[in-house]
Order: sequence, then structure tokens, then C-alpha cells
Amino acid sequence: MPSAAQPLKVLVLHGPNLNLLGTRQPEIYGSETLSDVNRALERRAEAAGVALVCRQSNHEGELIDAIQAARTDGTAAIIINPAAYTHTSVAILDALNAFDGRVIEVHLSNVHQREAFRQHSYVSLRADGVIAGLGSQGYHAALEAVVAQHGSA
Ligand code: DQA
Repeated sequence: MPSAAQPLKVLVLHGPNLNLLGTRQPEIYGSETLSDVNRALERRAEAAGVALVCRQSNHEGELIDAIQAARTDGTAAIIINPAAYTHTSVAILDALNAFDGRVIEVHLSNVHQREAFRQHSYVSLRADGVIAGLGSQGYHAALEAVVAQHGSA
């Protein structure tokens, strides 16, 4: 738990293919690039006094390594869009289960309106909250929730 002198540390993790945001199915995922999304979040975090780290990987093991590192580097919360690994990865679920802080799962699209296979999430078994269908605003809502709930249960 960070002291008053240490800012709240939050890790934002983006899963596979999210590096293609802006050009990947913009009718579903929007026209902002991942850099646009991260920059807007970083501005919001700075204004809120949050130390934000944004990472993206196309590789399951790299996402797991980042989650494991967050166990011991003072990270209080993880905001994660596991992308397709949402629906397949017991290993990411296990890594998140070994992380003690808050976990918010974010999806740009409303996965519940889409193919049946997108309607099951392993990560939701661990997530404290799930946001879907708000586009990049979902990350901002997640950050706000993390800040508002910091220090409470
Ligand atoms: C996604 C939804 C997933 O089903 C998909 O595989 C993605 C992105 C979303 O943000 O809407 O890559 O997580």
C-alpha cells in the first residue's frame, strides 16, 4: 500500500492486436490509435497524481511477466484489456489471481453483443470490475474507479 508520499501506481495492460488500434476494424474498435488512448490516459493520470504505466504485448507470456512484476513493484491496480486472451487464457487468470491489488477488465467493444465465444471471460473470474462497450472511455472509467476506491476495501 503506497504511503502519502508515494503516488498510486497503476498498470494498464493491452493484449494482442491492440497495437493495431486505429486501423483494425475501426467500425468496432474506433479510430484512435493505441498511442492516442495511452496519451489521453496519461494526461488524466497525471492530473489525478497517479503513476501510470501503459504496456501492450501480443504475447501471453509477456503479459504474464508484467502481471507478475506488478506483484512486487508497488502497483496498486491493474487495468487490463486482455483482448483475445480474455476468452482463452487460464494462465493470465492464474497470474491475476496471484496479484493482490485491484483488477479492472476493460473491453472497447460490447463483447456481449458479439460472437458467443467472446461472451466468456476467464479474466472476469478475478476482475473486481468489468467495463465493456464504452470504447476508450472505458479505460478512463476504470482509472476513475481505481482512484475513487483506493484505500477502501
Ligand atoms: C476486445 C474484445 C475481444 O473479444 C477481442 O479479441 C479484442 C478486443 C475489446 O477490447 O473489445 O481483441 O478485448
